[in-house]
Amino acid sequence: MNDSFEKKILKNIGRIPTEQIREVLLNEYSQRNFFEKIIEAIPTAFIVIDTKTNIEYANPSGLRLLGRTQKKIKGINIFSIDFDSALKAIIQNAVCESEKIINHELTIQTPSVSIVSISCFPFLHSGHISGYILTIQNITDAVNDKLRKYHKDSIESLAYLTAGVAHEIKNPLGALDLHIQLVRRFIEKKDIPDLPELNDLLTVIEEEIRRLERIVNDFLFSVRPIKPNLRRENIHEVIKDAAEFAEVELQQKNITLDLNLCAEPAELRIDRDYFRQAMINIIQNAAYAIDGYREDGKIEIATEIQNEKIAVIISDNGRGISKENMGKVFEPFFSTKEIGTGLGLTIVYKIIHEQHGDIIIDSEENKGTVFRIEFPSLSRQVKLLENSGQKTTEKEEKRN
Ligand SMILES: Nc1ncnc2c1ncn2[C@@H]1O[C@H](COP(=O)(O)OP(=O)(O)OP(=O)(O)O)[C@@H](O)[C@H]1O
Ligand SMILES: [Mg+2]
Repeated sequence: MNDSFEKKILKNIGRIPTEQIREVLLNEYSQRNFFEKIIEAIPTAFIVIDTKTNIEYANPSGLRLLGRTQKKIKGINIFSIDFDSALKAIIQNAVCESEKIINHELTIQTPSVSIVSISCFPFLHSGHISGYILTIQNITDAVNDKLRKYHKDSIESLAYLTAGVAHEIKNPLGALDLHIQLVRRFIEKKDIPDLPELNDLLTVIEEEIRRLERIVNDFLFSVRPIKPNLRRENIHEVIKDAAEFAEVELQQKNITLDLNLCAEPAELRIDRDYFRQAMINIIQNAAYAIDGYREDGKIEIATEIQNEKIAVIISDNGRGISKENMGKVFEPFFSTKEIGTGLGLTIVYKIIHEQHGDIIIDSEENKGTVFRIEFPSLSRQVKLLENSGQKTTEKEEKRN
């Protein structure tokens, strides 16, 4: 009901038949009910405060954000409630700026860490500011999607630019290696007094060639399309295999590795070798994050099977990843290690995504890191693979 219509009704109320008033009120009630339901249903937190910053209204999402129930909210000053301080500061600023519309994006604790977009704008009544409307929308998923797309795009554009160059490096490297062998044979036949020293120098060159070869091969792997050899596997077996491979290194570093694999087999269509490689890369990173940082180093690999998903969770109690670096770890050549090439996780990302999985990291500096790899269940995975053209033949199906 608009203002002038309201005034007209009130002015003439004595002359309006009761039935007509009833109809207008019913109509008004159902309209209000309709809008209230919409505001209550939206996932955006919606909070209205008056000019003294006392709360007038909060929808269920708003109440959740403030950690309150409807009954206890009206009239309470918003700043007397204990919620995220950065969010409070923005609201305070919005109230001070009074007539301006404030828009911000920030990371808050709600209680888990979320990225939110907050808007605060005044609402007017009879030409005066009678309060403020706050809307707070959780945009964590959208931001993460953007980040994932950014990784994908950055990997793809790098691929086109540099794969050709990397390929060209392989040939001279091969030639260098061959010629070192020829030099070795040549000098062995000569009577050279400093032969051992010369051999040591050649060994250094050989090692550096190996290192370069590894970088070039890793790089080409991470940027070129791969053709996984998909078979039905119980990934528990592959995890055990990767753990066994890493065992010696972990023992040397005094790190305990716990496997908490669920009792039922976790069957997926994967390329065994690629998946094993991904697991090894993650374990090696975890070991590096612990080595020299703490004595009671621990890595745990667990699996979870839910209706539609199979998850592998690798956690360590190492030094963790700083907030600043969290978005960069999958980028090619990002490394905080002196000897790292920064391709380990780029490869992991590629392997997991090529097999319709997803990988999420959660890390806290000085506490540790959790890598969560999720695959759709076998039946869903087969459908996805078929849709993407990776159809499995009946023959192959039987073989597995
Ligand atoms: N479990 C972890 N704990 C702490 N930091 C990690 C962990 N895993 C990865 N990182 C960080 O991510 C960076 C990138 O890892 P990535 O495996 O891609 O490269 P790298 O280990 O540095 O080199 P390499 O190519 O030899 O694997 C690491 O340098 C490290 O800073
Ligand atoms: Mg690594």
